[in-house]
Amino acid sequence: MDIRQATIADITGMQNANLMNLPENYVFRYYLYHATTWPQASFVATDASGTKIVGYVLAKLEEEEQKDGVPHGHVTSLSVMRTYRRMGLAGKLMELALRSLYECYGAKFVSLHVRKSNRAALHLYRDTLKFDVKEISKAYYGDGEDAYAMQKDLETLD
Ligand code: ACO
Repeated sequence: MDIRQATIADITGMQNANLMNLPENYVFRYYLYHATTWPQASFVATDASGTKIVGYVLAKLEEEEQKDGVPHGHVTSLSVMRTYRRMGLAGKLMELALRSLYECYGAKFVSLHVRKSNRAALHLYRDTLKFDVKEISKAYYGDGEDAYAMQKDLETLD
């Protein structure tokens, strides 16, 4: 298995993994926007052949927040194919994305949303990666589930 920066050629594979693993899905153009605007922020994990994408993290800078002068990263989506889980891939993908947001794009902190019921992702964000829960976003998801709005200070990466 290999982990590397995502390219435009990876978008179909990332979109496929996203469709398999999450109910929050995005049009091709949205992936393309990430890949062309913040080309160093997103990463993919591939299988042993190096061709099949088995995990990805899609990340960006939060444009709205930059108006207050504090660059702020955002993790749009993260997932790992079921048979490749519990091997540390998501943790590695996240570490690479967070470092890139900090070092390449100057983000001071990073945010994300996660379903309150998503125990695996919560463990990863809160316990492994040390994100803080900033607030509960009521009925954030299309089906009415609440989200934890989480943040991590990136200056601690120094
Ligand atoms: N229950 C409890 N803890 C778990 C679970 C689980 N099911 N899965 C992973 N963990 C823990 C691991 O033990 C590890 O903890 P440690 O650092 O204390 O050893 C930590 O989480 C990271 O484990 P990884 O192996 O790096 O995680 P993995 O590659 O299995 O991927 C992920 C985790 C991305 C949440 C995966 O389960 C998945 O793809 N789920 C479906 C999609 C999803 O929920 N994505 C996140 C949505 S939120 C967003 O996209 C911003």
